Order: sequence, then C-alpha cells, then structure tokens
Amino acid sequence: MFEILPGFRDFRPNKCATRNYLFAHWRSVAKHYGFEEFDGPILEPLELFTKKSGEEIAEQLFAFEDKGGRKIALRPEMTPSLVRILGEQAATLKRPTKWFNITENFRYERPQKGRLRSFYQFNVDIVGEESYTAEAELIALAIRSFQAFGLSREHFYIRLSDRQLWMLWLQGFGITDEDTKGKMLSLFDKWERRSHADIEADLKKILPEQTNAAAFFQATEQLRNAHDLQSIKVLFAQYAQQNISENVDQRLEDFRLLLNELSYLGCSDFIKIDLSIVRGLAYYTGFVFEVFETGNQGRALAGGGRYDQLFEKLVGHAMPAVGFAAGDVTLTDLLEKNHLLPNLEQVVDAYLVFEPTERSVALRCAEELRQTGFSVKYTLGETKSLSKQLKKAYGDGARFVLIFTHEELLQNKVQIKRAADGETELIAIADLANYLKQ
Ligand code: HAM
Repeated sequence: MFEILPGFRDFRPNKCATRNYLFAHWRSVAKHYGFEEFDGPILEPLELFTKKSGEEIAEQLFAFEDKGGRKIALRPEMTPSLVRILGEQAATLKRPTKWFNITENFRYERPQKGRLRSFYQFNVDIVGEESYTAEAELIALAIRSFQAFGLSREHFYIRLSDRQLWMLWLQGFGITDEDTKGKMLSLFDKWERRSHADIEADLKKILPEQTNAAAFFQATEQLRNAHDLQSIKVLFAQYAQQNISENVDQRLEDFRLLLNELSYLGCSDFIKIDLSIVRGLAYYTGFVFEVFETGNQGRALAGGGRYDQLFEKLVGHAMPAVGFAAGDVTLTDLLEKNHLLPNLEQVVDAYLVFEPTERSVALRCAEELRQTGFSVKYTLGETKSLSKQLKKAYGDGARFVLIFTHEELLQNKVQIKRAADGETELIAIADLANYLKQ
C-alpha cells in the first residue's frame, strides 16, 4: 500500500467541494474589485526563488534538477512568478495592473496545524501604483474576502505594520548597513516565537559593538507594543539617537493617510496598528499586514505588503507593487471551527429507474434532461428489478425519482416521486423538464 506524502492532501468529493466553494468566493470578490485572473507554471527556475525572497523560503523549496540539467523548483509562492510574467512587458505595462490568481504552492516545512507542504493561495496584486491607495484597496479586498464566508470582526482582524518605520528605527540607532538591516528584520520577524535570552544573544551578534543590546531590546519591545501613531512618534523621539524626526513625521503622515483611506472604505474596525508584524519574506519594502483570527496569534490567515524593489532586482525594471495572499488551510480550519461551511454535498436532480423493457426510452430521456441542464443518474450495469433500482435511487438522495413503467409509458407518462415530501405524481414526458425546473 502507498501512503500519501506528509503535508499533502487528497481531495475526496466533500473536500473538493469545499475547495471549490473557497475558490468561487475568492474569484467573485476579486472580480468585484476589478482584478483579472492570470496563471503561470507550477515549476520555475530555482533562481527565481533563491534570489530575493529570503533564506526561510529558500530552505523550504522543493527543488531538483530536470532531465535537461536545469535547476528547477515547485513554486513556494506566486509573487516571483508574477514579477517574471509582468516583467516581460514592464516598459509598456498598464498602470495599475490588477491581477489575481488561485494557485497550489509547495513548501518543504514541518507539517503542523495550519501549515502543510502543499496548500492553495488566493494571490491579489496591484502593480504600477506607488501610493498608499493601493494598499488600502487590497486591505479592503482582503477583509471582504473573509466576510464573503460569513466571517466578521469577531472572527478576524488585520495587523498593520510598516517596514519603513522599522528601517527608520534601525537608522535611529545608527544601523545603516544593508546586510545588518536585513538580519535585523529577519530577527524582528521571529521575535514573537523566541525567548528574551535568545533574542538578546542574537542582537549581540548582529548589532554594531557600540549599541547596547539590552537597551535596544527594551526600546524595541515598546515599539512592538505601540498601537497608535502618537505612541510610535513619542518612542522615536525618546530613543532615536540620530536626527530622523522629519523622516519619521513624513512616514507617520503616510500611515495616517492610509488609515483615513481605510476608514472611507469602511475598514477601520478591522485594523490594528501592530509593528510586531514584519513578514518573513525579504522583499517587502513598506506597509505590511497580516490577517489573524481574533484572539489567536496562531498561523496567519493571509499576509502581504508593498514590494517596490522586487521588479528591479529580478527583472531589471523599477516598478512599484503591492499584494497579499490568503491560504486555504487556515481559512478552512476557521470556517469549520465556526460552523460556517454550508452543506456542499452534491445532490442530483433526477434518478431514473425503469423496467428492463423501457431502457431505451429512459436513457434517451436522461440525455435530454442532461442537455437541458439537469443532473441525472440511473443504475449502471444490467437492468435490475424495479425494486432494486428504487432502493438505490432512494439511497442516493436525488431530488426526484422518475419511474418508467411500460404501462404508464403507453400514455407517454412517467411517475415522479419528490424527495422533499415523498409525494408522487404522474407527468407527461414532454413536461418533465418544466416540472423539474419548478
Ligand atoms: P506568505 O505569508 O508566505 O505570503 O503566505 C500567505 C498565506 O499563505 C499565509 O498567511 C498562509 O495562510 C498561507 N500559507 C503560507 N505557507 C503555508 C503553508 N506551508 N501551509 C498552509 N498555508 C500556508 C506570500 O506567499 C506572499 N507571496 C504574499 C504576497 C502576494 N505578497 C505580495 N503579493
């Protein structure tokens, strides 16, 4: 016997129905915001992902060599592919370009709750727009995409942060070297999951000698716990050792404008300013956000942000871009937990049973009904007795059971039994489609 690989899933019909339900809502919401659907290959050149996404994702790649000796990888995310695809036409790109897609992604991580090795993502990106209005539209879309399933503020919220403020924070402590800044952002990203002692040990390794790791830790803890712009401003004023107040004020003004725009879009209730969000992917350059289950800091339901330098770095064309992705695993868990998944069991419209002599009439009728748009089943194999067929039909849960007997067919009629109330009627074959429609 073969076992399924760890971290992968089979989609039996009920799971497939759930997956389709998610995809249908995602598509519908994206279209309401004017996004166009695109797609790309599951396999990409390995370098597309190792170049700029950061260490963590590079370690999690399913990578191998193909028969032509090319180094390739199963895509762990869609953003680098989007950049590759749009990069080809960057010079003439319509601005903004608003694209979405639904993809299967692969990451070799330790399978655990909310984390698998294969998962689906709803990716939504705006390319070619540099202002905060793009972030606002995406955050609104993200919120609506969760509300579409019946989720509300009591179930989820957005943690909104800004990498530029973190860059200024580091600058305020005299840290300007790109490599050190990168290491610090990665440490900020893991901060929540590490002990105080471990973080301080890492800080000692990364920070320039003159910076006191313990003092930096205390100040940074305060910034991570500041949840309004005024408190953030005060902390910068208190701790920044360099004169960066003008830049900080400018950035806080951008932040204020973003919050305003979000209030126009009716999203304020969902937003929590939370600088402890930094994002694990290395390419983000500005506002970043993650969607979380209310009261649960477990796995994020979605995440994204601005990545204004990724086009330049991957395809050599400067291009502002912002986007997010939501995953199917955490969303399905949340919907199940809150009993928000509808009954998606597939019920056929009509189950046909017939006397052996009436097989040809019944099958012709089945095809006609199918072509009119109804779903129809009958018992396959050699024609069995009516009672055996009826047993199967009632067990199947079809909305109607149609019974073809020689006697009734002499008058071009069939018996219909309604599952809803168990009532039976005699209907002319010519009227069947109309009857089922009603
Ligand atoms: P990400 O934060 O790596 O971002 O993934 C986004 C979402 O995908 C997560 O919040 C989570 O719901 C889901 N996800 C990620 N990894 C797994 C996993 N191993 N198992 C189950 N679900 C997972 C990105 O991928 C960015 N490319 C998003 C983006 C689009 N940024 C800009 N545009």
